[in-house]
Amino acid sequence: MSPQEVTTMATTLAEAGPAVDYAARLDHVSKSFPGPGGQQLVLDDISLDVAPGEFVTLLGASGCGKSTLLNLVAGLDRPSAGSIDTDGRPALMFQEHALFPWLTAGKNIELALRLRGVPKGERRDKTESLLELVRLKGAYGKRVHELSGGMRQRVALARALAQESGLLLMDEPFAALDAITRDVLHDELTRVWTETGLSVLFVTHNVREAVRLAQRVVLLSSRPGKVAHEWAVDIPQPRRIEDAPVAELSLEITEALRGEIRRHGQH
Ligand SMILES: Nc1ncnc2c1ncn2[C@@H]1O[C@H](COP(=O)(O)OP(=O)(O)OP(=O)(O)O)[C@@H](O)[C@H]1O
Ligand SMILES: [Mg+2]
Repeated sequence: MSPQEVTTMATTLAEAGPAVDYAARLDHVSKSFPGPGGQQLVLDDISLDVAPGEFVTLLGASGCGKSTLLNLVAGLDRPSAGSIDTDGRPALMFQEHALFPWLTAGKNIELALRLRGVPKGERRDKTESLLELVRLKGAYGKRVHELSGGMRQRVALARALAQESGLLLMDEPFAALDAITRDVLHDELTRVWTETGLSVLFVTHNVREAVRLAQRVVLLSSRPGKVAHEWAVDIPQPRRIEDAPVAELSLEITEALRGEIRRHGQH
């Protein structure tokens, strides 16, 4: 290797920076919005790491700032104080599937691949394998209105996975689904997470869902949102939402959540 090549390589490595030991790191993050009586503090001094490959659920009462926090991690908004770092650009999935209705399921996914710069010749195959991963083999040509709610969320998941980000941010993605479909999608998400080694930060106000999915549940208090408690969930996957250990821990967390809600006078 010539000295020039060594220098080029060293520069490339320096530009790449040292490998980080987190998928996301929030360091003393606060966020205020302008309100009627001045600045309204929504998130107060939140420090939180998501480790590579970790599945964390962020749980809290309605309005406590969960979506605000997720939007900050996504880079859609900036914190008023503190810093947020992610290892690469996160992929996002919301409660509403946000698919383009004039495109087929397959074309919605291909669009994400195109935006990522995947060459045209490779997109179709990649899309088919993503559809297979979310158990939607054969749905390539289906239009969005031909798909059930659960299928739409699967396409949205496939589209998020098409971004090949190491970090998936999910904001109540299954909240609008019926209980049985949600159950199936919990299984699917757990399987995809296990197969891909993704890091996931999943927002919900559903305690059982939080316990069903996560390795760690982080409870946010309200007004302002602060990290109130954390639980490690040491129950082997795949879990079922009605498993006794899931129900037991959910009860404990629900009590803590009720406590938070009572402290802030919400119902
Ligand atoms: N762009 C904004 N401008 C002003 N206030 C905002 C803005 N975005 C959020 N808020 C306020 O911040 C608070 C937290 O909102 P956020 O949507 O993050 O809550 P949430 O925990 O996601 O609630 P839910 O469970 O209902 O989705 C609310 O009081 C909301 O009104
Ligand atoms: Mg929200």
